[in-house]
Amino acid sequence: MNYQEVLQQIQHELQPLIGQGQVASYIPELAKVSPHHFGMAVVGIDGSVHTVGDAHVPFSIQSISKLFTLVMALQLEGDHVWDRVGREPSGTPFNSLVQLEAESGKPRNPFINPGALVCTDILCTRYAVPENAVVEFLRPLCGNRDIHYNRAVAASERRASDRNAAMAHLMKAFGNLRNSVDVVLDAYCRHCAIEMNCVELARAVTFLAHGGSHPEGQGDVLSISMAKRLNALMLTCGTYDAAGDFAFRVGLPAKSGVGGGIVAVMPGECGICVWSPALEPSGNSFAGSLALERFTTLTGRSIF
Ligand code: DON
Repeated sequence: MNYQEVLQQIQHELQPLIGQGQVASYIPELAKVSPHHFGMAVVGIDGSVHTVGDAHVPFSIQSISKLFTLVMALQLEGDHVWDRVGREPSGTPFNSLVQLEAESGKPRNPFINPGALVCTDILCTRYAVPENAVVEFLRPLCGNRDIHYNRAVAASERRASDRNAAMAHLMKAFGNLRNSVDVVLDAYCRHCAIEMNCVELARAVTFLAHGGSHPEGQGDVLSISMAKRLNALMLTCGTYDAAGDFAFRVGLPAKSGVGGGIVAVMPGECGICVWSPALEPSGNSFAGSLALERFTTLTGRSIF
């Protein structure tokens, strides 16, 4: 498959649409990012790398970090994670409080904010500096020892985290948070503020295309069965209440972030990452979703 040609065609087709949508502004520091960026990378399990546009420009990974904190929580606690977090699509926005109250503080899935806060809580119990543990986990997976989190973005989100604080307090009241709300929110805002580029993120998810083992010699990240489950969760919950439409249009497991990044997995083949900061109303990159839709259409490949 000539991925280079496919990526160039996608960039060409999408050019008039790049910038349509809204850059996330509820985290003030993210509102400063230009909506006109577009980058995409495909990293094969054979080590091949194809890129287009701004694929080497670092951006805020935001909720894509929830994928990695879930993997770390599963490595620590295995199936006990599911005692505290569900595995169903929420059908509500990623920061909705209503369902959490109705369902006694057990988040529907690990990718909405309260589910991710529980995973961060698990990391807070295990690590003195959990955000550093997440960065250390990612460095070998993405092939860059220098990635870090952006302190200004983390502080900006922390100052604006009343809604996440409300979710954390609600879960604490239901007995589903072990650490203090402040400790969990500090770590959460910092791991959301990790910066990576499309190539690094595409490489970091290749283990999910390769039965849970990192193809570039980093060893087993998850078992085959756990990797299958992660991919299933990404398909059903990774793009929030747009997940049904996303599966219909794209047909790949994926995880988005309000920084405008989306990672996707083509099992047996490659990790993919696209970045364009302007979002559609569910909080997924508008041009990024279209790019992935064109990718599976032009290549004729998806999980279906
Ligand atoms: O907690 C938040 O709202 C952000 N740090 C992350 C949200 C996010 O990325 C949702 N993704 N599409």
